[in-house]
Amino acid sequence: MPERIMIEGGVPLRGEVAASGAKNAALPLMAASLLVPGEVILENVPTLRDVSTMKRLLEHLGVRCQGSDTLSLDSSRAGGWEAPYELVKTMRASVLVLGPLVARFGRARVSQPGGCAIGARPINRHIAGLEAMGATVRLEHGYVVAQAPRLTGAEIVFEAPTVTGTENLMMAAVLAEGETVLVNAAREPEVRDLAEALNAMGARISGAGTDEIRIRGVASLEPVTYRVMPDRIEVGTYIAAAGITGGDVKITGCEPGHLRAVIDRMEKAGIETVVGPDSIRAVGGSGIRAVDIITDPYPGFPTDMQAQFMALMTLSDGLATVTETIFEQRFMHVPELCRMGANIKLSERRAAIRGVRSLSGAPVMATDLRASASLVLAGLGAREGVTEISRVYHLDRGYERIDEKLARLGARIWRAGG
Ligand code: EPU
Repeated sequence: MPERIMIEGGVPLRGEVAASGAKNAALPLMAASLLVPGEVILENVPTLRDVSTMKRLLEHLGVRCQGSDTLSLDSSRAGGWEAPYELVKTMRASVLVLGPLVARFGRARVSQPGGCAIGARPINRHIAGLEAMGATVRLEHGYVVAQAPRLTGAEIVFEAPTVTGTENLMMAAVLAEGETVLVNAAREPEVRDLAEALNAMGARISGAGTDEIRIRGVASLEPVTYRVMPDRIEVGTYIAAAGITGGDVKITGCEPGHLRAVIDRMEKAGIETVVGPDSIRAVGGSGIRAVDIITDPYPGFPTDMQAQFMALMTLSDGLATVTETIFEQRFMHVPELCRMGANIKLSERRAAIRGVRSLSGAPVMATDLRASASLVLAGLGAREGVTEISRVYHLDRGYERIDEKLARLGARIWRAGG
């Protein structure tokens, strides 16, 4: 029997939970180790399937990987330049090795990521950027093959921001000849975290966190020890968990400044938040109010919190709309939430959620990471029945020990089968 997560909802969560390191910061930081002929040590690395996949990919490229929470990555002997289909198909973020490989070894062969459960997700902007920096790029047999003896700085104007595209090109540019300017760059905190790590290695990057990033190429980088930033999406998910159960949860070790849009909408939805320097206490219980959200690149409301916010809205006191502007198909959780009693109408990129009085547990299946998180939340909020979530591996890709953390807050949650 494949592993499932079982939830008997209706318990208000109470207590403290510590934020883990951010998946979407750890993955590019791991890829960046390819740029340094020495040992890079990352601290606060979350134990996740995606991190294991990235380790496997780096090992395939000749990087010695040791440890887990504190992860040592030594690419002194790295020599491979191919990211094979088997790894890229299980994790699109594998494409993050493209920039570092071309920068360090002058070539890369990376399987083209296909579409996935949340949309088509092309990488044309990554490729156009590398070409602007002088790489020749061919697409052959499903692989992106890029070559450049040495990349040269260029001005690259993104038609729209891309997170991993910005990260890939920033990593490519740190060892390029001359200056690169990324215009309309992604402003996500994870981009900034990567820039800070690269600067600690000796790179010369300014403007990360704004929409214009300048990178002056240097001849080589030095090994460093760097601590991965906290996971703002995990934090937002625990805020939603407090809200949907009418509980009182303090999330520690987080960076509240990264969650302004999320905190704002949660407050409007009736969840009281008490923000400390590195903690957020979320108090529910006074009813959930209907609030509209539109996903947007940072600092807007994150698409990675859309499904979880929708779960909260299923129990609101009115009609809420959720508009998804980043990934066209990121509504796979809707039919599953409806099977638990939610009332949601979908049209194109907008979902209209009419709050219901209660949800009821049901067997449900998730197709991607954040959709799975929304089903966990709905399960926690369901006051009758048991929710049985299959395809648990989606959750384990991006949430560190989610069942243990929730159980410690009082949730009745356990794993079965497996
Ligand atoms: N896009 C293109 N061409 C490109 C690149 C992107 O058309 O060359 C489009 C995408 O299809 C999408 C939009 O641009 O419509 C933005 O996508 P972006 O490139 O920013 O997404 P990503 O870098 O592939 C990262 C996160 C995602 C998160 C998005 C948006 C990592 C490893 N992944 O993906 O995280 O949803 O940014 O914030 O950082 C998750 O953690 O669950 C997750 C999916």
